[in-house]
Amino acid sequence: MSPPSDAKLLAVADAAAARAYAPYSNFHVGCAVLARDGRVIEGANVENAAYPLGVCAERTAFSRAVAEGYRPGDFVVAAITASPCGGCRQWLLEMGVERVVFRNGGQVLTMTTDELLPESFDSSDFR
Ligand code: THU
Repeated sequence: MSPPSDAKLLAVADAAAARAYAPYSNFHVGCAVLARDGRVIEGANVENAAYPLGVCAERTAFSRAVAEGYRPGDFVVAAITASPCGGCRQWLLEMGVERVVFRNGGQVLTMTTDELLPESFDSSDFR
């Protein structure tokens, strides 16, 4: 079977966003990650009354994927319903996703992690 289109992945991310737990911001975010084996792993933001403990949609998706056995480099696309925050850009880089598709200001943008986070810090900086 052919892999889902970026538009389809964004639709999956929209469905995931509907399951977000975001009672404080009321800003629901969804993320759908396509792995090289064809699986799509979904995440949504999960907030907490202690605000800084909330987790972004991207991080729930990648945490779920890693817990299921996926590793950095196993991912092709991450589709996100919103522009990824700075911390999530660092996660997207670490996970080695090839491209990131996201909505921003009424547009759908596609960027590499290098475009999202130029001159980045990674493990080669301390090895
Ligand atoms: N949020 C995400 O889930 N991903 C991002 O990349 C941007 C921000 C969430 C965090 C918080 O639950 C809500 O959006 C408002 O900031």
